[in-house]
Amino acid sequence: MKQFTSVHDVKDIDKLVADALAAKANPFANKKLGENKTMGIIFLNPSLRTRLSTQKAARNLGMETMVMNFGGEGWNLETEDGVVMNGNNQEHIKEAAAVIGQYCDVIGIRSFPSFEDREKDYQEKILKDFIKYSGRPVVSLESATRHPLQSLADLVTITELKKVERPKVVLTWAPHPRRLPQAVSNSFAEWMNKADVDLVITHPEGYDLSPEFVGNAQVTNNQDEAFEGADFVYAKNWSTYEPYGQILSQDPSWTITEEKMALTNQGKFMHCLPVRRNVIVSDGVLDSDSSAAIQQAGNREWAAHAVIQEILRGL
Ligand code: CP
Repeated sequence: MKQFTSVHDVKDIDKLVADALAAKANPFANKKLGENKTMGIIFLNPSLRTRLSTQKAARNLGMETMVMNFGGEGWNLETEDGVVMNGNNQEHIKEAAAVIGQYCDVIGIRSFPSFEDREKDYQEKILKDFIKYSGRPVVSLESATRHPLQSLADLVTITELKKVERPKVVLTWAPHPRRLPQAVSNSFAEWMNKADVDLVITHPEGYDLSPEFVGNAQVTNNQDEAFEGADFVYAKNWSTYEPYGQILSQDPSWTITEEKMALTNQGKFMHCLPVRRNVIVSDGVLDSDSSAAIQQAGNREWAAHAVIQEILRGL
């Protein structure tokens, strides 16, 4: 694997899940693989889980890690081509990526959407420019449209917890006071389309995701109907795709409650975190044994481990 930007970079997702579970069982088996190699972990946006799990995974593989937060620590980054840089941005992404590539063997980068222009966000210019100008393998730590390390950790968690061979997995929109990206939801849908699950997506009218991510999923605006018989309920807020980046609803009846979870097949509640309690999900659900959210976060380490390991093997 040369890059890890989406499920399309993965030849065999079952093997990658198996690798993650093998790493969880024996974290230091490949400690020599990353010896004398450095991973640069670059954030253009905040993070808790991705920052810590990626560092831990790289170190388990014997790598050195360097973490840098643009925004406060780095120069203001210019990402447009051909601009006269006489404003607030001091460093162009072309030089920044190229210089980071001089110091690092593998680069992880997080870059959220700007929400200014859907076409630009969905072109993933920042991620692609890092690949182009760094000359190094790049791991997406969440981009404008996808969060593949999260999705891999989610699939690992479903694999660990499923009680039937082909579980029913529901991706449900839930309310949120802020405009959030579609990345986690897009990515989860994209991975579940490749996995051995029955995927149902439920959201209020107007919240359709881009068809390229919905794939073969069943889509319904009736959340109760979607939850019936569900083995997993994956909650996430997203802003609208069309028109782009709008909040059309904050309807609290879409919050995941114990009553809603009672409709499921003793289903597990999933969320990528961070989560707003009693907005996205009730305390009762999040604090119950049905919540897999902490296990998901724990599995971020093993997802990152499997991906970095695969990249190191190709260096
Ligand atoms: N789920 C996730 O990516 O968490 P962070 O934003 O804290 O990294």
